[in-house]
Amino acid sequence: MNVKVAKTAGFCFGVERAVNTVYDEAGKGISPIYTLGPIIHNENVVSDLEKRGVRVIESEEELENLNEGTLVIRSHGVPERIYKLLDSKGIRYVDSTCPFVKKIHNIVKDASDKGYYVIVTGDRDHPEVEGICGYCHSRDLIVIKSSDDAEKIDIDISRKICIVSQTTFNYEKFQEIVEIINKKGYDIIVSNTICSATRERQREASELASCSDVMIVIGGRNSSNTQKLYDICSEKCANTYYIQTLDDLELRQLELFKNVGITAGASTPKNIIEEVFKECQKR
Ligand code: F3S
Repeated sequence: MNVKVAKTAGFCFGVERAVNTVYDEAGKGISPIYTLGPIIHNENVVSDLEKRGVRVIESEEELENLNEGTLVIRSHGVPERIYKLLDSKGIRYVDSTCPFVKKIHNIVKDASDKGYYVIVTGDRDHPEVEGICGYCHSRDLIVIKSSDDAEKIDIDISRKICIVSQTTFNYEKFQEIVEIINKKGYDIIVSNTICSATRERQREASELASCSDVMIVIGGRNSSNTQKLYDICSEKCANTYYIQTLDDLELRQLELFKNVGITAGASTPKNIIEEVFKECQKR
């Protein structure tokens, strides 16, 4: 059996950095350590960290009640007000906001200070987008995610518009939206803030799936980027399996195949990928 793991499988740079930061902080033995929301969408990692004394805070209200400890800010970033809250409470924090996300925060802050109307393309309920919106110093911001949304835009034509994107937004959709807003005659500045890590992972998964007899996609149940990978691979390879860990894999089924491809979502730890790889290699 030939087994190939995609080079881009698993953690991107920003996620790896954030997860390592939490492990480093937990390793210092000074508790309590908190993360605002789970550090990644992976139950194994979150429960492993829990054993090391890391607690997940679920809401801002909960954060307001904290009086001690260290908070690790995850790669998605947080609204500016969270830093103010932490400072006012004197709570120590370690900032693991991905630098690519930080760049968007700075663009939005700067643009809103200069009087631009800000348009963010993305999913308004995603924590990264909530964080981005939290850097706009005025009410002049909207989040849109489709061409339909773009068509409906009715901002005063005299306003200058700054367009940024959630890092994981689809590039083609972003281009379509920008085109529609541009055609409406607005004076726009556009920052393509889509991160290439997701696109690269998807492109490689698709390529690998097209030359594999079976494709294994590893990722958390609630991970939307893993689901997307699964969809992409299924289009190219009819025998595509979505698993969370090695336990979910029907190894017997694999024995029928010669070429096995493996990829994994952005929140899948290396050790889970390696475990699956090694087990497939034994067949
Ligand atoms: Fe950062 Fe890109 Fe990952 S923005 S968190 S490196 S997907």
